[in-house]
Amino acid sequence: MGMKRLGILLSGRGSNFEAIADNVAKGAIPAEIAVVISNNPHAAGLEKARHRGLPAVCIPSKGMEREVYDRLVVAELQRRQVDLVCLAGFMRLLSAYFIQQFRDRILNIHPALLPAFPGLEAQRQALEHGVKITGCSVHFVDEYLDAGPILVQAAVEVRDDDTVDTLSARILAQEHRIYTEAVNLVLSERFRIEGRRVIRT
Ligand code: GRF
Repeated sequence: MGMKRLGILLSGRGSNFEAIADNVAKGAIPAEIAVVISNNPHAAGLEKARHRGLPAVCIPSKGMEREVYDRLVVAELQRRQVDLVCLAGFMRLLSAYFIQQFRDRILNIHPALLPAFPGLEAQRQALEHGVKITGCSVHFVDEYLDAGPILVQAAVEVRDDDTVDTLSARILAQEHRIYTEAVNLVLSERFRIEGRRVIRT
Protein backbone atom coordinates (compact mmCIF):
# COMPACT_ATOMS: atom_id res chain seq x y z
CA MET A 1 0.00 0.00 0.00
CA GLY A 2 1.36 3.39 -1.01
CA MET A 3 1.27 6.59 1.01
CA LYS A 4 -2.04 8.39 1.36
CA ARG A 5 -2.41 11.30 -1.01
CA LEU A 6 -3.50 14.78 0.06
CA GLY A 7 -5.19 17.34 -2.15
CA ILE A 8 -4.92 20.93 -0.93
CA LEU A 9 -7.45 23.54 -2.03
CA LEU A 10 -6.66 27.20 -1.43
CA SER A 11 -7.57 30.68 -2.59
CA GLY A 12 -4.95 32.94 -1.06
CA ARG A 13 -1.82 33.22 1.07
CA GLY A 14 -1.45 29.52 1.76
CA SER A 15 0.20 29.53 5.18
CA ASN A 16 -1.82 26.52 6.34
CA PHE A 17 -0.78 24.72 3.17
CA GLU A 18 2.86 25.55 3.96
CA ALA A 19 2.53 24.24 7.51
CA ILE A 20 1.13 20.96 6.17
CA ALA A 21 3.79 20.79 3.43
CA ASP A 22 6.57 21.39 5.98
CA ASN A 23 5.28 18.53 8.12
CA VAL A 24 4.91 16.24 5.11
CA ALA A 25 8.52 17.06 4.13
CA LYS A 26 9.72 16.32 7.70
CA GLY A 27 7.88 13.01 7.82
CA ALA A 28 5.56 14.33 10.55
CA ILE A 29 2.56 13.61 8.31
CA PRO A 30 2.70 10.12 6.73
CA ALA A 31 1.31 11.20 3.37
CA GLU A 32 2.27 12.99 0.19
CA ILE A 33 0.80 16.10 -1.38
CA ALA A 34 -0.67 14.92 -4.66
CA VAL A 35 -1.88 18.31 -5.87
CA VAL A 36 -2.49 21.90 -4.80
CA ILE A 37 -5.50 23.51 -6.50
CA SER A 38 -6.48 27.18 -6.43
CA ASN A 39 -9.63 28.79 -7.76
CA ASN A 40 -7.80 32.12 -7.76
CA PRO A 41 -5.05 32.57 -10.37
CA HIS A 42 -3.39 35.20 -8.17
CA ALA A 43 -3.22 33.09 -5.00
CA ALA A 44 0.22 33.37 -3.38
CA GLY A 45 -0.21 29.78 -2.21
CA LEU A 46 -0.12 28.54 -5.79
CA GLU A 47 3.30 30.12 -6.34
CA LYS A 48 4.53 28.73 -3.01
CA ALA A 49 3.46 25.24 -4.12
CA ARG A 50 5.29 25.54 -7.43
CA HIS A 51 8.36 26.75 -5.58
CA ARG A 52 8.30 23.56 -3.54
CA GLY A 53 8.10 21.52 -6.72
CA LEU A 54 4.58 20.32 -5.96
CA PRO A 55 1.93 19.84 -8.63
CA ALA A 56 0.03 23.14 -8.59
CA VAL A 57 -3.07 23.66 -10.68
CA CYS A 58 -5.24 26.71 -11.14
CA ILE A 59 -8.87 26.04 -11.96
CA PRO A 60 -10.45 29.51 -12.14
CA SER A 61 -13.94 29.67 -10.66
CA LYS A 62 -14.92 33.12 -11.85
CA GLY A 63 -18.32 33.16 -13.51
CA MET A 64 -18.82 29.40 -13.20
CA GLU A 65 -21.85 27.70 -11.75
CA ARG A 66 -21.05 25.94 -8.47
CA GLU A 67 -21.57 22.33 -9.47
CA VAL A 68 -20.02 22.78 -12.92
CA TYR A 69 -16.94 24.12 -11.18
CA ASP A 70 -16.91 21.42 -8.52
CA ARG A 71 -17.05 18.70 -11.19
CA LEU A 72 -13.80 20.07 -12.66
CA VAL A 73 -12.11 20.11 -9.25
CA VAL A 74 -13.34 16.63 -8.31
CA ALA A 75 -12.13 15.28 -11.67
CA GLU A 76 -8.67 16.74 -11.02
CA LEU A 77 -8.59 15.31 -7.47
CA GLN A 78 -9.64 11.88 -8.75
CA ARG A 79 -7.11 12.01 -11.57
CA ARG A 80 -4.42 12.61 -8.92
CA GLN A 81 -5.85 9.78 -6.79
CA VAL A 82 -6.39 12.02 -3.79
CA ASP A 83 -7.51 10.27 -0.58
CA LEU A 84 -8.01 13.30 1.68
CA VAL A 85 -8.95 16.85 0.67
CA CYS A 86 -7.72 19.72 2.87
CA LEU A 87 -9.37 23.09 2.41
CA ALA A 88 -6.82 25.70 3.43
CA GLY A 89 -8.32 29.13 2.97
CA PHE A 90 -10.48 27.93 0.06
CA MET A 91 -13.11 30.62 -0.16
CA ARG A 92 -15.96 28.60 -1.64
CA LEU A 93 -18.87 26.52 -0.42
CA LEU A 94 -18.80 22.98 -1.80
CA SER A 95 -21.74 21.49 -3.68
CA ALA A 96 -23.52 18.31 -2.57
CA TYR A 97 -21.86 16.61 -5.55
CA PHE A 98 -18.37 17.39 -4.22
CA ILE A 99 -19.28 16.27 -0.68
CA GLN A 100 -20.71 12.98 -1.97
CA GLN A 101 -17.56 12.18 -3.95
CA PHE A 102 -15.36 12.67 -0.84
CA ARG A 103 -17.75 11.82 2.01
CA ASP A 104 -15.93 12.26 5.39
CA ARG A 105 -12.70 12.89 3.48
CA ILE A 106 -12.76 16.70 3.32
CA LEU A 107 -11.33 18.87 6.11
CA ASN A 108 -11.49 22.62 6.66
CA ILE A 109 -9.84 25.00 9.11
CA HIS A 110 -11.78 27.90 10.57
CA PRO A 111 -10.30 30.71 12.70
CA ALA A 112 -12.84 30.55 15.55
CA LEU A 113 -14.18 28.06 18.06
CA LEU A 114 -17.12 26.72 16.06
CA PRO A 115 -20.07 26.94 16.21
CA ALA A 116 -19.19 30.50 17.23
CA PHE A 117 -18.44 32.98 14.46
CA PRO A 118 -18.85 31.01 11.25
CA GLY A 119 -18.34 32.75 7.92
CA LEU A 120 -16.01 35.53 6.92
CA GLU A 121 -13.77 37.58 9.24
CA ALA A 122 -14.21 35.27 12.21
CA GLN A 123 -11.39 36.97 14.10
CA ARG A 124 -13.04 40.40 13.69
CA GLN A 125 -16.38 38.90 14.72
CA ALA A 126 -14.81 37.52 17.91
CA LEU A 127 -13.05 40.78 18.75
CA GLU A 128 -16.17 42.86 18.17
CA HIS A 129 -18.35 40.44 20.14
CA GLY A 130 -16.05 40.88 23.11
CA VAL A 131 -15.31 37.23 23.81
CA LYS A 132 -12.28 36.63 26.02
CA ILE A 133 -11.38 33.31 24.42
CA THR A 134 -11.56 32.37 20.76
CA GLY A 135 -9.44 29.98 18.70
CA CYS A 136 -9.60 27.73 15.70
CA SER A 137 -11.31 24.53 14.59
CA VAL A 138 -10.59 21.77 12.10
CA HIS A 139 -13.82 20.11 11.00
CA PHE A 140 -15.20 17.76 8.40
CA VAL A 141 -16.90 19.58 5.56
CA ASP A 142 -20.55 19.07 4.75
CA GLU A 143 -22.97 21.03 2.56
CA TYR A 144 -23.29 23.84 5.11
CA LEU A 145 -20.90 26.67 5.96
CA ASP A 146 -18.32 25.82 8.67
CA ALA A 147 -20.70 23.16 9.96
CA GLY A 148 -19.45 19.54 9.87
CA PRO A 149 -18.21 17.37 12.79
CA ILE A 150 -15.27 18.94 14.66
CA LEU A 151 -11.96 17.06 14.81
CA VAL A 152 -9.63 19.36 16.75
CA GLN A 153 -9.89 22.80 18.36
CA ALA A 154 -7.43 25.11 20.08
CA ALA A 155 -8.28 27.98 22.39
CA VAL A 156 -6.60 31.38 22.12
CA GLU A 157 -6.99 34.26 24.56
CA VAL A 158 -8.23 37.64 23.41
CA ARG A 159 -6.17 40.44 24.95
CA ASP A 160 -7.43 43.93 25.74
CA ASP A 161 -4.94 45.52 23.37
CA ASP A 162 -5.60 43.10 20.49
CA THR A 163 -6.31 44.30 16.98
CA VAL A 164 -7.73 42.01 14.29
CA ASP A 165 -4.15 41.54 13.07
CA THR A 166 -2.56 40.63 16.40
CA LEU A 167 -5.43 38.29 17.29
CA SER A 168 -5.34 36.67 13.83
CA ALA A 169 -1.61 36.05 14.14
CA ARG A 170 -2.02 34.35 17.54
CA ILE A 171 -4.82 32.16 16.15
CA LEU A 172 -2.84 31.36 12.99
CA ALA A 173 0.03 29.83 14.98
CA GLN A 174 -2.50 27.41 16.50
CA GLU A 175 -4.11 26.74 13.10
CA HIS A 176 -0.78 25.56 11.76
CA ARG A 177 -0.40 23.16 14.68
CA ILE A 178 -3.91 21.68 14.81
CA TYR A 179 -4.33 21.18 11.07
CA THR A 180 -1.49 18.66 11.10
CA GLU A 181 -2.94 17.02 14.20
CA ALA A 182 -6.31 16.64 12.48
CA VAL A 183 -4.81 15.31 9.23
CA ASN A 184 -2.87 12.74 11.22
CA LEU A 185 -5.97 11.71 13.15
CA VAL A 186 -7.86 11.10 9.89
CA LEU A 187 -4.93 9.27 8.31
CA SER A 188 -4.62 7.04 11.39
CA GLU A 189 -8.30 6.04 10.99
CA ARG A 190 -8.43 5.93 14.80
CA PHE A 191 -11.76 7.68 15.16
CA ARG A 192 -15.42 7.21 14.49
CA ILE A 193 -18.14 9.74 13.80
CA GLU A 194 -21.25 9.50 16.00
CA GLY A 195 -23.73 12.13 14.95
CA ARG A 196 -21.81 15.37 15.30
CA ARG A 197 -19.12 13.85 17.53
CA VAL A 198 -15.71 12.70 16.36
CA ILE A 199 -14.57 10.12 18.90
CA ARG A 200 -11.00 8.82 19.10
CA THR A 201 -10.74 5.04 19.12
C1 GRF B 1 -7.05 30.97 7.76
O1 GRF B 1 -7.29 31.90 8.77
C2 GRF B 1 -8.07 29.88 7.80
O2 GRF B 1 -8.49 29.58 9.09
C3 GRF B 1 -9.21 30.46 7.00
O3 GRF B 1 -8.58 31.17 5.96
C4 GRF B 1 -7.28 31.56 6.37
C5 GRF B 1 -6.33 31.01 5.36
O4 GRF B 1 -5.00 31.44 5.60
N1 GRF B 1 -10.10 29.42 6.54
P1 GRF B 1 -3.82 30.79 4.78
O5 GRF B 1 -4.13 31.01 3.30
O6 GRF B 1 -3.75 29.34 5.14
O7 GRF B 1 -2.60 31.54 5.19
